[in-house]
This record gives sequence, C-alpha cells and structure tokens, in this order.
Amino acid sequence: MCAEFYAVPLLPMMNMSVSYTEYDKISDVISSQPSLLQMICRFGIQLGVGDKTVREVCEAANVDTTTFLAVANVMKQGMAVAPFYVEKIDMTTMVKHLKVAHEFFLDFQLLHIRRKLLEAIDCSRQNEVAFLILKFYDEYMSEVRKHMEYENRRIFVHVERLIAGENVTDFRIKQYSKSHDGMDRKLQELKNIIIKYYTPSEGTSSDLLCNVLFSIYNCEADLRAHCEMEDALFFPAVELLEEKVAAQAIEQGVVAKSDPPQESLSDREKEIVSCIVRGMTNKEVAANLYISINTVLTHRKNISRKLDIHSVSGLTIYAIVNGIVKLDEITLQ
Ligand SMILES: [Fe+2]
Ligand SMILES: [Fe+2]
Repeated sequence: MCAEFYAVPLLPMMNMSVSYTEYDKISDVISSQPSLLQMICRFGIQLGVGDKTVREVCEAANVDTTTFLAVANVMKQGMAVAPFYVEKIDMTTMVKHLKVAHEFFLDFQLLHIRRKLLEAIDCSRQNEVAFLILKFYDEYMSEVRKHMEYENRRIFVHVERLIAGENVTDFRIKQYSKSHDGMDRKLQELKNIIIKYYTPSEGTSSDLLCNVLFSIYNCEADLRAHCEMEDALFFPAVELLEEKVAAQAIEQGVVAKSDPPQESLSDREKEIVSCIVRGMTNKEVAANLYISINTVLTHRKNISRKLDIHSVSGLTIYAIVNGIVKLDEITLQ
C-alpha cells in the first residue's frame, strides 16, 4: 500500500472538485459516476460498503488505494491525468485489475451481447443481413479474444517477471505498446450496420434490438476505456519498471551480456516471416510466393540462424516489433 499518497495536496493542477480522494465515501464515488461500478467490481470490492471511505474499503479488500484512485480519476477526468499516477501505481494490483477486466469481457460481456443479438435478430439464412451481422460479431469476438489472450500470456507474464526483480532483456513493452490497437472501432461499425441496414421482420418488436444496441454502446465505451487505461497508465508504468529493474541490475553488477550482432533479413525472408506468423504451412508459403517448398525450408533455416529464433511465437514477436505484420494480422501460437 502507498500510505504516503494523498490525492488532494498532490494534485495542485487538477480540478479538485472532481478528483476522488481516499477520504471520499465510496458510495458517493459510485453514485457520482455509475460507470465506476464495473471498475470497483474488477478490483474485487464487494458492495454493501456502508459509509466507508475509499481507503477503508480498499484496505479491507487488500487493494492498493493509490492504484484504485489512479484508475478512478483517469476514468473520471480523462487520460490527461494519467502521467501523474504512472510512477505511483502498484503493478501487482494493476495487472490483477486488467486480468479481471479481460475475464469479464471474454467470459461474460461479449457472450452476453451475442445471446441478446441472437434473440433480437432473425439469423436464418433467409435473412442475409442478420446472418452477416452475426458473422461480423463472431469475427470481432475472436479478435478481442486474440488481443486479450496475447496480453495475458505475454504482457502480464513479462510484468510479473519484472515485479519479481528479473531484468528481462528479450522483450520491451514499447515493442507491443506502439502497435497496441483499441478494440472499440469494429464494435462501432457493427452498431452502425445494425442501425442503418437491419430492418426487423414485420410484426417484430424493436425492443430487443434497441436493448442489444444499448449493450453494444456500453461495451464499446468500456473497451475504449480499458485500452486507453493500458495506453496512458499501464504501459508507461511498465516502461518505468523496466528501467528501474535494469538500473538495479547494473548497480548489482548483473548486467546482461550484449547480444551478438544480428544479420538483417532480406526482403524475401521478411515475406516468408510474414506468411509464417499469419499461420501458413510451408506448402501454403510456397504457393503464395511462387517458390518451391525446398526454397521455403532453406529460407526458414537461414531466418532461424540469422535471428537465433526457433519458434513461431518468437518469430511473431520479431515480426510485430519490426513492423513486418500488425498484431491483428497474425495467428497466435
Ligand atoms: Fe487489455
Ligand atoms: Fe490491450
């Protein structure tokens, strides 16, 4: 817990009337901005909070008060206040919070909207627009799953290694953050498709459709806030942690040996990498690039030797970092 943090004296440039502090009653915080309700649940805070303050509730739930206030105030006041908190948040609390948010989106919210969508539209093949809307939504769910599972497996594990004091030299958060993409745009597109092009069957009530649209609006805003929180608060904090751990390693004389100089890939080899990380087999790569399978195998051997990378997962990170592919184009292993 960061007991030394007091939001009011340390926030001179902000509008104090809207900054939450540790002394606020948590019931007032929830009432003033209902969208914080989900955030509070994602911190593992149970309702039935009585007149307890933010600090009292956080301490009872074993949640770092500063991190709670950082998330609440960024949600309330916008991304501009995030830099103030970057150095102060507790990374274990933040990672836990983001993991729970992923679980919420993947295991509840997106499935819940799909169920409501199925009730609201006629998905028989005779209604092609409805069929395509559902297909669009399913593809979107799979993109979100890919994005969040990647963060669970790669980013959060990276941060946990840093928290444990490990000077991680094979990955830097900037390699991911610069290609980190918000996931709300496609949902916005879906909403517009429904509004513009889906006409409910005759005699059907529009209530269910309006209701699912409302859920999509909420989910879109929630996903946007989640991604912005990662961009403005979490990733910069990870960067600071990386610097801190690296500095400690230097102080302790545990400096990583410098990597041997790396040979760069030819344009053809980059094309091969691009195909592989998109999930193509050797045969498909050969057909796609009009070369023989043997040539593909030779290129793959050379790529592995040059990069000293021997797995598709490793190649995938290399390809993202070096701008060969974008995150949403790849097949994660
Ligand atoms: Fe995320
Ligand atoms: Fe993300």
